[in-house]
Amino acid sequence: MSKRQILITSALPYANGPIHLGHLLEYIQTDIWSRFQKGRGHDCYYVCADDAHGTPIMLKAQQQGLSPEQMIAQTSIEHQADFKDFAIEFDQYHSTHSPENQELANLIYQRLDAAGHIKRKTISQLFDPEKQMFLPDRFVKGDCPKCGALDQNGDSCDVCGATYSPTDVKNPRSVISGATPVLKDSEHFFFDLPAFEQMLKDWTRSGSLQEEMANKLQEWFTDGLQMWDISRDAPYFGFEIPGAPGKFFYVWLDAPIGYLASFKALCKQRGLDFDAFWAKDSSAEVYHFIGKDIIYFHSLFWPAMLEGAGFRKPNAVFAHGFVTVNGAKMSKSKGTFIKARSYLEQLNPEYLRYYFASKLSAAITDLDLNLDDFVQKVNADLVGKVVNIASRCAGFITKRFDATLADSLAEPELFQEFTAAGERIASHYESRDYARAVREIMALADKANQYIDAKAPWVLVKDESKQAEAHAVCSMGLNLFRVLMHYLSPILPTMTGQAQQFLQDNFGWHNYQQPLLNHRIEPFKALMQRVDPAKVAAMLEASKENLQPQSAQASSAKPSTQSSAADSATKTLDPIADTISIDDFAKIDLRIARIVLAEPVEGADKLIRLELDIGNETRQVFAGIKSAYDPADLVGRHTVMVANLAPRKMRFGLSEGMVLAAGPGGSDLFILSPDSGATPGMRVK
Ligand code: 2FM
Ligand code: ZN
Repeated sequence: MSKRQILITSALPYANGPIHLGHLLEYIQTDIWSRFQKGRGHDCYYVCADDAHGTPIMLKAQQQGLSPEQMIAQTSIEHQADFKDFAIEFDQYHSTHSPENQELANLIYQRLDAAGHIKRKTISQLFDPEKQMFLPDRFVKGDCPKCGALDQNGDSCDVCGATYSPTDVKNPRSVISGATPVLKDSEHFFFDLPAFEQMLKDWTRSGSLQEEMANKLQEWFTDGLQMWDISRDAPYFGFEIPGAPGKFFYVWLDAPIGYLASFKALCKQRGLDFDAFWAKDSSAEVYHFIGKDIIYFHSLFWPAMLEGAGFRKPNAVFAHGFVTVNGAKMSKSKGTFIKARSYLEQLNPEYLRYYFASKLSAAITDLDLNLDDFVQKVNADLVGKVVNIASRCAGFITKRFDATLADSLAEPELFQEFTAAGERIASHYESRDYARAVREIMALADKANQYIDAKAPWVLVKDESKQAEAHAVCSMGLNLFRVLMHYLSPILPTMTGQAQQFLQDNFGWHNYQQPLLNHRIEPFKALMQRVDPAKVAAMLEASKENLQPQSAQASSAKPSTQSSAADSATKTLDPIADTISIDDFAKIDLRIARIVLAEPVEGADKLIRLELDIGNETRQVFAGIKSAYDPADLVGRHTVMVANLAPRKMRFGLSEGMVLAAGPGGSDLFILSPDSGATPGMRVK
């Protein structure tokens, strides 16, 4: 097997918020791949960095009374501590706010500009006259230009699902100061993405992308590629564009360049050759692991920037889906927005590494962390199957057989069956089908336990004439355990280290096929405790945050992804409305409804189409609750609807009423549920 040169990255987390379980899926997925490649003997480097620039980071630092530099330094320490405790082993963890990144961003920009790929154009944007700054879309709020719903985001409406430009919003206001924004002109710099269309189409077809990703790209090609605005005006926390005072690189321009910068810093430390990885003719392999929300940046802008600036493109971009917890988006009020630290305070990080691995494949599907299943699976597989093999055999070896394994294998065929699975399991790791690798490993663990059950060494040891057999069986069991631990080592590095210590052996791909014979071991200590469900409950409780009235300052750097859940808890509670008479109230016909059908609405990210049984008829309602519910989970539930609301014609069809829900929005939305006994059609009074 020839030695490969491999560079692996995970997406760079923003430097204004904590690492949470949504992030960890990606770092665990990447770390397993990196450990696997290193274990196979390849020259593999895994780099990452904090994504330190942009308006949200600048504003959050201001809010905390810190300079952005102080805040990102603090966040970097916290992020790295979280990663270390989850055994995420980077070769380099850097920052996009670094000299290497500035140098590379300038170089790439200057090469693109010299090649004619940067265009200048004056555009008009909303400007906060009090804060004296241009407002990114989600720092504008106002009334929906389509349906008139109050207090909607600057780019989309939660009520009717429309998307629009912030300049179209009615009664706009700045989320930062509350001031009414004004339109202001400014010259912006644009990267000419359309010029790279042919190259991107070829690259898409070259097999570097997952099928779902290639299909998505095809849609973008059909819609037509757009020029990309890469500049932002001061005040902005980022790098000033060379030769353009007061203009800064947009955070997404220098973020992926952070991959190069982090690797460059590693090259300096270890004397590696940067160009061998990044020159156009490089034979090294480069892979980016990312979430599905940032495919556009990594499969269009990034390869085009690299191509235009004379660098090689990645071999592949691997996207994964989002994490849901108990079937729903992570939510602060439900306690399922779980920070890495809150998890670590209660639970062993390897439980989560194992659970994620057992469900991860190369597909871009979402992964549900079902906490009951989590407890059950970890306890059954790791404690009940794998660790159990060692704990059933080790004590006898230590106490009765001088802590030394037998000098021959009792069942060479069974051992051979275990080792013969090695290359198959390796190919599952290679293709990122960890779930399949885990299934094979657990099937072997079952076989090992069946072997021990059948031989019952605890019975053999009681019979003086069967001591040699008991020794052979326990030694065999520990040899099978060793092969399994080797297979699990990319997923469970800490437990593997403890198993190596116990077996006094440095097992790996180089020697797992040779059994340990006539070999002294250390006393066995429990390698893993069972998951205590009370700790899981404590973690959820600690993660619950009340929706206390606070400043409405947006804090997250991500508008449309998992960290947006963090925003909801910072929203103010609505004040109680003016009083109405009982007659006014009597006009509202509220009915118990049973959800007979719930499905997503093509072209509307936020809507679910519901069919509601209200006793004597079925109504169709479009509800803006998709951010909080998976349609499949709604079917069969009872809820409350306004049955006499005038029907409204929407883009997607007629909406014949409204379901009632509470909460600030995003994943924190709760449809009302009647007590059991209430049946469809009953009037709510
Ligand atoms: O979406 C995010 O969280 C970004 N901070 C990811 C950046 S990845 C890379 F391009 F830097
Ligand atoms: Zn609307």
